[in-house]
Amino acid sequence: MTLSIADPSVATAPNAPRPVISLRNVIKEYRMGDTDVHALRGVSLDIARGEFVAIMGASGSGKSTLMNIVGCLDVPTRGHFWLDGVDVRTLDDDDLARIRNRKIGFVFQSFNLLPRMSALANVELPLVYAGVRPNERRQRAARALEAVGLGQRMRHFPSEMSGGQQQRAAVARAIVTDPALILADEPTGNLDTESSLDVMSVFDALHSQGRTVVLITHEEDIARYTERVVKLSDGRIVADYEQDAAAARGSHVAHALADRAGAER
Ligand SMILES: Nc1ncnc2c1ncn2[C@@H]1O[C@H](COP(=O)(O)OP(=O)(O)OP(=O)(O)O)[C@@H](O)[C@H]1O
Ligand SMILES: [Mg+2]
Repeated sequence: MTLSIADPSVATAPNAPRPVISLRNVIKEYRMGDTDVHALRGVSLDIARGEFVAIMGASGSGKSTLMNIVGCLDVPTRGHFWLDGVDVRTLDDDDLARIRNRKIGFVFQSFNLLPRMSALANVELPLVYAGVRPNERRQRAARALEAVGLGQRMRHFPSEMSGGQQQRAAVARAIVTDPALILADEPTGNLDTESSLDVMSVFDALHSQGRTVVLITHEEDIARYTERVVKLSDGRIVADYEQDAAAARGSHVAHALADRAGAER
């Protein structure tokens, strides 16, 4: 996988894959009273379709700020961001909301499931917003829950599921609209090792299906699942390297997966 250095506004060769995410000199500043907080100090990054990327860095290095911009939840103070070739500055709030709903699946550290709704109803929600009819909604939500190994837990409420199961339900909610891009901010931050492994195996499977997955993590063990690591420090990219995720994962993951599949049956 080579990094494209081409400016996406410039025509590229017909067969050159267009990066799904392309940032150029992105700066994000927050005004706090009299001082400016420099959350991002000029980030340039291309992520191609189908990549599996970990964003790492110390607390306060700008990881969530970057993720919020990539997820169209926030806009750069200066610089350029193209999502799937579209300059997001040309979009209004309605366009951005539509893109968030259709193209991007979000997963957060704290699951963010609605407590009074079953797993199935939680996973159906993005389809409600997208205007999908109830029957189809239910079918697609059930399929997404099956895909994350929760076929037997659809009627459970969040309080009736383990942390790992709740996070897998949140992943099902993120993929139910069939988004090209999945963004996860510390998805294993609240999970024990075994549940983390479970959730990572789901991301791994999504990546194998050709989806682009970008996740933030503090943990080297989690980053090892991915094929590329981008490290931030003080609002700048200080490292960006590829790694052989398959070799790093080792067979214990396969065993854990087999155990889980057995337990769910
Ligand atoms: N809404 C905001 N207003 C002001 N400053 C902010 C805001 N959001 C983030 N910051 C500042 O920007 C910098 C980067 O924050 P960010 O949340 O991106 O860090 P992070 O790498 O995600 O950290 P963590 O690992 O703790 O989640 C920090 O110094 C933070 O205090
Ligand atoms: Mg953060």
